[in-house]
Amino acid sequence: MLKIDGLTKAFKDRKAVDNVSLEIPDGQIVGIIGRSGAGKSTLLRMINRLAEPGEGRILFGRRDITTLKGRELHAWRATCAMVFQQFNLVGRLDVITNVLTGRLYHHGLVASLLQHFTAAERAYAIKALDRLGMAHTALQQADTLSGGQMQRVAIARALVQEPKLLLADEPIASLDPLNAKIVMDALRTINREDGITVICNLHTLDTARTYCDRIIGLAEGKVVFDGNPEQLTMRMAREIYGAEAEEAFHEGMTSTSLNGQPAKPALSAAEIAKAQIAKAEALVG
Ligand SMILES: Nc1ncnc2c1ncn2[C@@H]1O[C@H](COP(=O)(O)OP(=O)(O)OP(=O)(O)O)[C@@H](O)[C@H]1O
Ligand SMILES: [Mg+2]
Repeated sequence: MLKIDGLTKAFKDRKAVDNVSLEIPDGQIVGIIGRSGAGKSTLLRMINRLAEPGEGRILFGRRDITTLKGRELHAWRATCAMVFQQFNLVGRLDVITNVLTGRLYHHGLVASLLQHFTAAERAYAIKALDRLGMAHTALQQADTLSGGQMQRVAIARALVQEPKLLLADEPIASLDPLNAKIVMDALRTINREDGITVICNLHTLDTARTYCDRIIGLAEGKVVFDGNPEQLTMRMAREIYGAEAEEAFHEGMTSTSLNGQPAKPALSAAEIAKAQIAKAEALVG
């Protein structure tokens, strides 16, 4: 169980997250929704301790996460894997090495610097890639992949951390609808098969409704909705999204974003091919 109690974080005198209290039982898949600036990323980053909590506490089981330091904080970040909108792969490294960097949390500094991984770890990384339909790209340089493929590799990297929690900050915001579906299906499979709790900031209400057991709506740093998808009525959507509610409530996965920005389309196959040709030409000179 992840327990968040009175969590607050202010930047200057503005509260990004304002007195949030939540209990998230193990194995849930939770969608966090809200307008741009509602505090979704700040909340997720505090759970991972990428952002320092101001007031309040974060507990996982009986452990107080809020005060962890040094080695214990490092271990928490292994337990609590994170996936980002921009994938955060190392483009010049091959896919398998990118996935294996997820194991670095389990290694000492020297082994990490030498990138010394065991045969069992390599096999585990291939298995993780295979679960995401990406094993065939293991030796490919990461920056030759499409956006959807990159995100699947990032999820494989998260998996080899052997986390109990997976935090995803708008994991599909840069993807086209098909890749968005593949990535969300993968998150759901991991949640169901491995029992990993998934907490996912989402752009589109429709995605949250389709994939999440529970939806949490944030507005100006506060929880204004916490319930299952069926409970999310138009009136609640208004509370979460304000003037954008109508559009948010009726939109499908393919339409524009909810948080005031236009949806960012992923690169088309033609654009990727063009970029790859340009890169190859640059290499040849
Ligand atoms: N490092 C920071 N320094 C100053 N202000 C910040 C910082 N990070 C976030 N904020 C502010 O905190 C508020 C919440 O930001 P946050 O990024 O958590 O929102 P969000 O819901 O994730 O928005 P989006 O949908 O655009 O990603 C915003 O007003 C933002 O400007
Ligand atoms: Mg954000």
